[in-house]
Amino acid sequence: MCKSPLHSLIAELPKCEHHLHLEGCLTPALLFQLAAKNNINLPSQDEYQSQEALEKRYSHFTNLSDFLQYYYRALTILITASDFEQLAWSYFQTAHHDGVQHAEVFFDPQSHTSRGVKLETVVEGFKAACERARREFGITSCLIMCFLRHLPLEDAAETMDEAVRGGYFEGGGDQGRIFTSVYAKAKELGVHRTAHAGEEGDPSYIAAALDSLGVERIDHGVRLAEDPALMRRVVAEGLLLTVCPLSNVCLQVVQKVGQLPIRDFLKAGVKFSINSDDPAYFGGYVLDNYCAVQEAFDLAIDEWRQIVTNSIECSWIKKERKSELMSNLNRVLDRYR
Ligand code: ADE
Ligand code: ZN
Repeated sequence: MCKSPLHSLIAELPKCEHHLHLEGCLTPALLFQLAAKNNINLPSQDEYQSQEALEKRYSHFTNLSDFLQYYYRALTILITASDFEQLAWSYFQTAHHDGVQHAEVFFDPQSHTSRGVKLETVVEGFKAACERARREFGITSCLIMCFLRHLPLEDAAETMDEAVRGGYFEGGGDQGRIFTSVYAKAKELGVHRTAHAGEEGDPSYIAAALDSLGVERIDHGVRLAEDPALMRRVVAEGLLLTVCPLSNVCLQVVQKVGQLPIRDFLKAGVKFSINSDDPAYFGGYVLDNYCAVQEAFDLAIDEWRQIVTNSIECSWIKKERKSELMSNLNRVLDRYR
């Protein structure tokens, strides 16, 4: 909860979340619970000796690859469809509490299939939670399949440690162009496309995602502000950035939320949504991210109207659902006028 007089308005805003990794909702508590249930030995390192020790380690990541080692290592305890359902359901419960009405959530098929878990098991579990969220909370959602940029498509999880050490992530040599053919195929199939870019990597990663992958959105993209010409292009093309403020602080992309170019984006007309990325690791779900932005920037009601309108308009949903969400937004704003 933030100290802003607008807190209750912000809490009630009908939120669309566009950048949320379901695997990033695996809290240490759930990790220990599922490890016990599935009889899986956790790594022998000190930080896996207790939930508290792991929580403590999660509170100080040094950068993206430091975090990703913990993120991938934790996934070994997810085995059955009900494990995946429980994980996603834990997200939807908090999301509902935070005012999320539509969620486009990522999952990482390769990090499960490489361990021998069938893709259909993963999808069955996640879809069950999505359907339950629709029934019980009225939340609409869709699943976005991620390709892990450090793995060649046919590769296996052993490559992971090596990739972390080798710096194959954003910031490494390739800017994602090797995935051009996969994205072209997705486009041919009528599938929406987005990519992480401009998080740790400089704006050239954003340009590469636009030119080589033909993405419709940029995940993170906060380093866009360093390239005014590219920023004008993003505005002209009406592309959305899925910004994740607390993630950026936890992974030391910025030292504090106030350093993010939120005001530059508002002023230039860059569309963005506010998201939680990996809430089990970064100390907050979506409302905490909205609050962190409010505490840092003290936005006006009209600025929140713009942010939420853009996140509704840029959602991958039918126009009827957009109209419903817009009416929900107007109803909230009317009460605060
Ligand atoms: N996988 C999960 N969260 C991520 C992030 N913030 N950046 C890159 N890959 C991720
Ligand atoms: Zn992410």
